[in-house]
Amino acid sequence: MASNQTVSKAKANKQDEFYTQLSDISNELRHYRSQLRGKTVLCNCDDPYESNFFRYFALNFNTLGLKKLIATSYAKSTIVGAHLPLFDIEGLKPEGRKPYAIEINEVPDHNGDGATDLSDVEYLLRHDANTARTLKGDAEWGAGDFRSAECVAYLAEADVVVTNPPFSLFREYVAQLAAHEKQFLIIGNQNAIDYRVVFDLIRQDKLWLGVENGGTKWFRVPDDYDIQTESRIKIEDGIKYFSMGSIMWFTNMDNPKRHETLTLYKTYSPEEYPTYENYAAIEVSRVAEIPEDYDGVMGVPITFLDKYNPDQFEFLGMCENKDLFGLKTRVYSTKECQDAYRAIFGRKGTYDLNAAGVVGGRKVYKRLLIKRKR
Ligand SMILES: C[S@@+](CC[C@H](N)C(=O)[O-])C[C@H]1O[C@@H](n2cnc3c(N)ncnc32)[C@H](O)[C@@H]1O
Repeated sequence: MASNQTVSKAKANKQDEFYTQLSDISNELRHYRSQLRGKTVLCNCDDPYESNFFRYFALNFNTLGLKKLIATSYAKSTIVGAHLPLFDIEGLKPEGRKPYAIEINEVPDHNGDGATDLSDVEYLLRHDANTARTLKGDAEWGAGDFRSAECVAYLAEADVVVTNPPFSLFREYVAQLAAHEKQFLIIGNQNAIDYRVVFDLIRQDKLWLGVENGGTKWFRVPDDYDIQTESRIKIEDGIKYFSMGSIMWFTNMDNPKRHETLTLYKTYSPEEYPTYENYAAIEVSRVAEIPEDYDGVMGVPITFLDKYNPDQFEFLGMCENKDLFGLKTRVYSTKECQDAYRAIFGRKGTYDLNAAGVVGGRKVYKRLLIKRKR
């Protein structure tokens, strides 16, 4: 019988199969055009025949002035050779279901219509034998796994990595990008801000958010993709889409948004902005209400990150259990947490006061700890 671990791994693999729409990609990428000129772009979680990241870069190869485009597909993808074909043309796809890499050094105007379009990309994939190669994997990682030696070699060659990676491996994925000191623009869940590796990069000003993080992003999913909430499902022309909440772009490439100054209008008062009982910081429950005249540490909602201008604010840490950032002024004992639970819920239990900022004996939501710079 399959172990629980195997079952949850399979579930995570399956849940990782959601596909970004071309409109979301081009909407964000328009802010980085000049930074892509002359660059080798790698899409390393992208079946070239199905990914709109590949499609975007192949179609805009000449306009963006790319040096090279590399895309790799992954062994365990449920769609490799199966669904969501971008180039739905008999015989175009390489034989079999093996993961492969495609490398493109140029996109000539084969059909001579004066522009490079999808048919030119198709022509290239059909006729240039040098563009595709099967991936084999290695002793440790399967074919097309971003951690496999073949894929790491592509990563080493790349200047910029742009994709929507598997959310279940987001920590590892970001750590790898940072270790290789690559430029990147990737999609992730807002919750990832909480991951130590991500937050440490934010603190070091080596990772920030992209531009187009508002609104709802709909991702194409296989028909059997499990979605519990009805309002998050959309079917259009027989194609299933999923919207999964706070999805953001994470990057280390400069963009105009991070230079915008957040306009502040409120003034500080101890009544409106209570000091936490366990941090030398004040509670600011809405980003728009950050006081313009408070010079100390402030706890703000994580949505602040979307407004973060490093010239205006400094990141110090976040409210969390282990006091990783050395900002706590008080650590509650187990007895205090048990007493707090009884006082609030009237029964036995443990209220983990150490997990958050505390005001009036109650935990507040997740908070980032910041300070104004000017
Ligand atoms: C969220 S989907 C996005 C796919 C595509 N990048 C897009 O945006 O349309 C993540 C993709 O990563 C692939 N994947 C999962 N684990 C992987 C791994 N270890 N290495 C490389 N790709 C992986 C999945 O098969 C899936 O296609």
